[in-house]
Amino acid sequence: KRKIIVAIDGPAASGKSTTAKELAKKLGYVYLDTGAMYRACALQAMRGGISLNDISSIVLMLEKIDIQISYTEEGNIIWLNGEDVSQQIRTPEISSSASAISAIPAVRYKMVELQRKLGKNGGVVLEGRDIGTYVFPEAEAKFFMVADLEVRAKRRFKELAEKGIKTNYIDVLKELKERDEADANRSLAPLKPAEDAILIDTSNLTIEEQVHKLYEITCRII
Ligand code: C5P
Repeated sequence: KRKIIVAIDGPAASGKSTTAKELAKKLGYVYLDTGAMYRACALQAMRGGISLNDISSIVLMLEKIDIQISYTEEGNIIWLNGEDVSQQIRTPEISSSASAISAIPAVRYKMVELQRKLGKNGGVVLEGRDIGTYVFPEAEAKFFMVADLEVRAKRRFKELAEKGIKTNYIDVLKELKERDEADANRSLAPLKPAEDAILIDTSNLTIEEQVHKLYEITCRII
């Protein structure tokens, strides 16, 4: 069996993470959450009191930032300068600032370099916004996952509630909508399906059905 690169892109809360994680398990591949890297950058900027308009301070911050990933059964652990920040990067506040910071080219160049380094040997499922279009345009399997905004907002609201993060449904819906618009409209590597990506609408699919669909297709490619 070949060890290929599987790219899974799509808007926020479209089911990418859960599916990518399960798919990687079934294939015996590594799962890589690229959004977590932008989230870690956002956390670092927030902690340093750096404004996201202050590009030169962001560039300085990037020179010193140390982001490491470790792989576990439950997913990735993300280390920021030696500290496990996996939980702290999941707040709605970090979601919005991750989107803002990810539009800065210097940030993307640095994160994409890391992603390419970690994924280049294949046997990996990468999840993000620009994996199939920009990070690995040569990926052998490309999926673009979508779902109705309301379905996504309900999922994300439930997920946050389960983590004990207080929000309300309307705010979650608004945050997703704004973030997708920002991600789709930035100039460098915007959120969009690659020409050769397979579109998967998860609005009416269970997690099992989603995983099964991607697994079947990937196995045919391998
Ligand atoms: O996937 P997740 O919601 O954790 O990503 C957080 C933010 O990071 C996204 O809204 C997007 O702005 C950015 N991102 C990106 N490219 C990726 C992954 C995430 O720009 N490959």
